[in-house]
Amino acid sequence: MSEANGTHGMKLLAGNSNRPLAEAIAQYLKLPFTKAVVRRFADMEVFVEVQENVRGEDMFVIQSTSYPANDNLMELLIIIDALKRASARRITAVIPYFGYARQDRKVGSRTPISAKLVANLITEAGAHRVLTVDLHAGQIQGFFDIPTDNLYAVPVMVKDIQDYLGSNNLMVVSPDVGGVVRARALAKRLGADLAIVDKRRERAGESEVMNIIGDVKGRVCLLVDDIVDSGGTICNAAEALIEQGAKEVCAYATHGVLSGGAVARIQNSKLKSMVITDSISATNEVLKCSNIRRISIAPLIGEAIHRINSEESVSSLFD
Ligand code: R5P
Repeated sequence: MSEANGTHGMKLLAGNSNRPLAEAIAQYLKLPFTKAVVRRFADMEVFVEVQENVRGEDMFVIQSTSYPANDNLMELLIIIDALKRASARRITAVIPYFGYARQDRKVGSRTPISAKLVANLITEAGAHRVLTVDLHAGQIQGFFDIPTDNLYAVPVMVKDIQDYLGSNNLMVVSPDVGGVVRARALAKRLGADLAIVDKRRERAGESEVMNIIGDVKGRVCLLVDDIVDSGGTICNAAEALIEQGAKEVCAYATHGVLSGGAVARIQNSKLKSMVITDSISATNEVLKCSNIRRISIAPLIGEAIHRINSEESVSSLFD
């Protein structure tokens, strides 16, 4: 992907959730950030001041709603409100990692659908469009009544897989039945076979591997998922694959949430490598972990921003 040339009345603004990614996107677009202050009052309320004229501008606000999810979401909402009141022409919320996405349906009586509530909040704050990456469930796109582009990290992963693993003997594996569509898309692009880990979750927050659909004996297995949080799903799946005779297991996940003891779990797992994107800012622990590697989705997001601004097709990025 080449760097974008030419922008039309476009400005970028970033919250504090993922400055390295925001800076890489700005570099791709060859654009400086709009001068703004996004800080906290002593009681931790968020304060935003846009320090240059944005009247009539096509504004892109970059903010992942990752940990601390509530603070980062609030920053995003308040930045959008500031831009709306400053008469920006169009505001696109660029949310590389859309937090709360896993709460996308009622899991029991009297439980919320928080993903829908968050979509409502972003729209109500004044966003005209949303640009995000690998939504946990595709239908969350429909939770927004404003245009929402859901990008896929798959092309970035494919390039990395070809560079690091080649194409021999690969078998793409979905770590659970829910991830089959995603895994199939990757397998198709790689021309690889597909296997599925049939996992049952007995209690919330715990995962259990049941059995593997497909013959993985002697194969280089590539687990693919949208999110790695506690690491339980991916590490348990890796163990099951090795038990079934897989030659080696690598994993690719778009969003490295990596809560609690996830990094140590991955470090001590059967995974040869775990590759995540930079949709979420990496902690020092992540950066130091010997079997976690990061790939950048900045060019992908930068190109999508460029195309939205110049009213070009975004979907053709994935043809
Ligand atoms: C589940 O539906 C998701 O795709 C991920 O598999 C899950 O969020 C990973 O969570 P953890 O790493 O905590 O097992």
